Amino acid sequence: MSETAAVRDLAVHLARTAGGIQRDRYETEFRVRTKTASIDLVTEVDHACEALIVEALNAERPDDAILAEEGGGEDLDSAEWRWVIDPLDGTMNYAHGYPRFCVSIGVQHAGRPEVGVVYDPLLDELFCATRGEGASLNGREIRVSREREIGRALLATGFAYDVHRSPDDNVDHFAHFVKRARGLRRDGSAALDLCYVAAGRLDGYWELKLHAWDVAAGNLIVEEAGGRTSDFRGGPANGDGLQTVASNGHLHDAMIEVLQR
Ligand code: IPD
Ligand code: CA
Ligand code: CA
Repeated sequence: MSETAAVRDLAVHLARTAGGIQRDRYETEFRVRTKTASIDLVTEVDHACEALIVEALNAERPDDAILAEEGGGEDLDSAEWRWVIDPLDGTMNYAHGYPRFCVSIGVQHAGRPEVGVVYDPLLDELFCATRGEGASLNGREIRVSREREIGRALLATGFAYDVHRSPDDNVDHFAHFVKRARGLRRDGSAALDLCYVAAGRLDGYWELKLHAWDVAAGNLIVEEAGGRTSDFRGGPANGDGLQTVASNGHLHDAMIEVLQR
């Protein structure tokens, strides 16, 4: 088995195991704290999922770098492989018992996205991509939609945790798209939003001020499903998530035009 395949299998195993924790503890009592703002939450379950993944990686792949949202990993400059982990994407949903959240694991090789795995434990949906090999949902190949008209498109977005105080709040873009698209969703998990673009359930998605762990897996899954990802000017998505646009490709230029207003 190639090293990439071994990395993918480990990422799948860890995403499923952490997802099992999320499923077991969903709608139970758990501690919730705030982070950068009163609306930026973290639960005991985020920490438990991250600890499980990071401990397993430290044991099985001690030379690899780890960037994990809650700070549990060690990001080594010298490492060939780097794991970029959102242990629970959709924490606000999770804390409210709103059934939309996931585990997201992206793995880079020599600085390039190589593997992406996103697992939704309630629907038991596993999205997976390996560079150059396409994208799948529960083992079946997925492709982006064929929609070419914004007026017939279902789009999604999200709002950053500084939305109460920052003027750069995405409300202007939301207002523009709500007048153009068939429908707009704000469902609270960036990683799943990207996977839904990949699977053709959404035609496009944009968001500001995301982080590397939100997009590391999802961007690769979109590209491997035949879609396009970029910044708000249409330039390459650089992986930090600060400006994220993902689409089926056909709608991309039209979305960029709206975002440039
Ligand atoms: C958040 C979710 C949400 C997005 C936020 C993210 P978290 O991640 O992906 O959909 O709108 O910008 O920070 O905090 O639940 O891991
Ligand atoms: Ca996230
Ligand atoms: Ca998270």
